[in-house]
Amino acid sequence: MLSAIIVAAGSSERMGFDKLFALVSGKPIIAHTIAAFERTDCVDEIILVGRGDSLGELRKLVGQPTKVKQIVEGGAERSDSVRVGLDHLNPKSDFVAVHDAARPMITPEKITRVFEACREHGAATLAEPITDTLKRVDVDLIVTSSVDRHQLYAMQTPQIFKRDLLESAYRKAAEKEIAVTDEVSAVELVRHKVVLVPNHDFNFKITYPRDLPLAEFVLKQRAQAS
Ligand code: CTP
Ligand code: MG
Repeated sequence: MLSAIIVAAGSSERMGFDKLFALVSGKPIIAHTIAAFERTDCVDEIILVGRGDSLGELRKLVGQPTKVKQIVEGGAERSDSVRVGLDHLNPKSDFVAVHDAARPMITPEKITRVFEACREHGAATLAEPITDTLKRVDVDLIVTSSVDRHQLYAMQTPQIFKRDLLESAYRKAAEKEIAVTDEVSAVELVRHKVVLVPNHDFNFKITYPRDLPLAEFVLKQRAQAS
């Protein structure tokens, strides 16, 4: 059984207003994200982790019937919100996907591919190849060296793991008091291999106001094509 934790408890500081409720191609960003997981056959349940002040709004938006089994309040850091999600999984679930609500351009096809890779290797994530030339700089922004972008990837979500692996990874992070910004970083602490599924489609995280018209364009085009 595969459970999906959708983390939606951030404060949208860089956006300046609650980005997850911004309307894009006819519905709130968070609704696009939830819909992608609802439509993915291999996903059995969804745990939605939201801000305390938006739980009512989220309950209204989710409706019935749905795979969303729990709507719970997140924590101060993303990793705290993931932990809350882990605490609310169905006892029977043996695989866990974690996904940023702020990535509404995810598709059932990509979720399924990451799950297949996870079933084979125990841990898998969607990731984007780097296309820009990379440089390391000093504190004055003076270029000091080149970084070979060959074999460099930007981590995306979903990130999917065997449940016991992800739980032990988060326990290790807590024990060592290490702040992890994603699940792959946590799993690295327990030295388990993680396989990447390269993504050549749009799946950027909605972060700044400039991202909204781009997401609108991508999601509208997809809606027209289907
Ligand atoms: N998130 C969360 N709990 C937190 C922080 C973040 O559930 N305490 C979620 C966000 O809602 C988002 C995802 O993690 O879906 C990725 O975080 P990010 O894009 O950084 O969103 P925010 O933290 O809301 O934005 P900002 O950093 O600009 O405040
Ligand atoms: Mg943040």
